[in-house]
Amino acid sequence: MSLNAKITDWHGKVIWITGASTGIGAALARQLLNIGAIVITSSRTAITLTHANTYHVTCDTTELASLALATQKIKSQFGTLDLIIANAGNHAPMRADAIDAKLAAQLVDTNLTGTINTVACGLTLLKPTGGIAIVASVAGYRGLPTGLIYGATKAALINFTETLYLDLAPKGHQVYLINPGFVKTPLTDKNPFTMPALISPDEAAKAIILGMTKGQFEIHFPKRFTWFMQALRHLPYSWYFWLIHKGTGL
Ligand SMILES: NC(=O)c1ccc[n+]([C@@H]2O[C@H](COP(=O)([O-])OP(=O)(O)OC[C@H]3O[C@@H](n4cnc5c(N)ncnc54)[C@H](OP(=O)(O)O)[C@@H]3O)[C@@H](O)[C@H]2O)c1
Repeated sequence: MSLNAKITDWHGKVIWITGASTGIGAALARQLLNIGAIVITSSRTAITLTHANTYHVTCDTTELASLALATQKIKSQFGTLDLIIANAGNHAPMRADAIDAKLAAQLVDTNLTGTINTVACGLTLLKPTGGIAIVASVAGYRGLPTGLIYGATKAALINFTETLYLDLAPKGHQVYLINPGFVKTPLTDKNPFTMPALISPDEAAKAIILGMTKGQFEIHFPKRFTWFMQALRHLPYSWYFWLIHKGTGL
């Protein structure tokens, strides 16, 4: 049984994507435009898109005033939205023996507060049956070395999105939890290790669109990696900690 309505036709759907200047967000914007959607992109950096059905609103999702202004512009230009993809995020590898508290606060601000801000503002624009998608990560499933703060923000987003579903699905909205594995983007270029099952932003965007087309709640990919990560969730702590130390060497 699908937990969301299936999106069978993307033509004319008005979609707002935050964090769409690079990586997964930019690939999603391109692919959604190619299948007929109208795409509003946001990021702190102004970007120029050449497609006729696209519109860019520069905004910082950590700043409520900036998001409120963006929301106002979108409302006056498009009225209501069919889908919001809260994708903006950042990553900085960090370990417990060298916590950079300032950087940690910035990560929490961007990944968690920024996403909550986006939902708070975006919901005022959403059609009664419109959808909201949160880009979390399989890094939020369980603790992982170097993901000290990033993983914590993504775990919080998984919990947040589950509760969004509980609150909004009975009202007719669609809610999607997007949990990518490793995708080659400027964000993961910072990782100091070889990333298993690394995929391209275009492959990630294709998997996200397919998941929405099927009406899935959790959209996770690539399966060869995410099924393994899901299996790890069921291990007792003693086995999990041993396996992660052994497997990562960290
Ligand atoms: N790549 C992966 O392997 C992977 C895996 C799991 C989950 N994810 C998640 O996927 C999402 C996209 O990541 P990505 O890998 O595509 O990274 P990316 O290429 O670095 O893209 C991040 C985007 O977020 C925007 N952004 C950052 N801070 C922002 C802010 N405060 N306000 C508005 N926009 C902001 C960036 O643009 P500006 O800098 O111009 O603002 C950029 O467009 C993130 O939430 C990330 O955590 C990625």
